[in-house]
Amino acid sequence: MSSEKRRLIAGNWKMNGSIQDANDFMDAFGGNPAPDHVEVALMPPFTLLHPMSDRLASIGVALGAQNVYYEDKGAFTGSICPMMLRDAGCHYVILGHSERRSIIGESNAQIRNKMNASWLHGLEPILCIGETLEQREKGITNAVLAEQLAILKGAPRDAALTVAYEPVWAIGTGVTASVDQVTETHAFIHEELNRLGHDCRVLYGGSVNPGNAEDLMACPGVEGALVGGASLKADSFMEIVKAAVKAAS
Ligand code: PGA
Repeated sequence: MSSEKRRLIAGNWKMNGSIQDANDFMDAFGGNPAPDHVEVALMPPFTLLHPMSDRLASIGVALGAQNVYYEDKGAFTGSICPMMLRDAGCHYVILGHSERRSIIGESNAQIRNKMNASWLHGLEPILCIGETLEQREKGITNAVLAEQLAILKGAPRDAALTVAYEPVWAIGTGVTASVDQVTETHAFIHEELNRLGHDCRVLYGGSVNPGNAEDLMACPGVEGALVGGASLKADSFMEIVKAAVKAAS
C-alpha cells in the first residue's frame, strides 16, 4: 500500500509566531540537516511565509500555508490566493483543518473549491479530515470520514495530494488516538482513497509529541504527522522528525 511513500512531518504553527520566534526556530533547527527519506515542512502564519522561505529552503524544509482562498484576485478583502502562496515560496497548503471547519464554518464545498484552485496553481493540499468525540462515540467515524473524502470524487487521480487524519478530540488536548484506533482508521482511509482513485500519503495529527511519535509513526498506514503544538519548538519538532526517520528505516 504505502510503505514506499516518502514520509512527511509537517508543523502547523496555527496563529503563533513572530519574526523573532521564526529566526530563533531556524537558528536552532538549521543545525540538523533534513533527512533524505523523510520530508519536513513548516506551515507558519501568512506573515512569516516570505520571511522564512529562503532559509527553510536552504536547510531542506518545505514551506506551506494554513489556508487559501479560491479566487485568483480582486475584491476579497483579507484573503490570500494560491498564486500569492506560490510567490511566497509555498509548496503545501493545509485545507479543511477542523479549527476552520468548526470555528470559521468552512464547508466541504468550500474546501473543494480551495482544493481545485490550489491544484490549478501547483500547490499540494494537505486535506484534513477527522471526527468529533461525539461522532466516534456514536460509531459514525467512518461515515464522517467518507463524507469528508467524497470531495475528491472526480478529482484528477494524479493531482498532488496528502491527507491528514486528525481526530478532532485529539487536537490540542494532549489525548492521542490509540495505536489500534489509528491503525484501524488509517486502513479505512486508505481503502476509501483507493476507491476514489487516489494513492496518497496519509498523515496522523492530534497531540503528536516526542513521547508518542515513535509508536504513532510505526502504525501501519501512517506516513507522517501533522504536528501542532510540538512544532513550535525546534527541539521537540526535531525529535518527531527523528521518530519518523526511525520508522522509515
Ligand atoms: P496538535 O495540533 O498537535 O497541537 O494537537 C495538530 C493540528 O491541529 O494540526
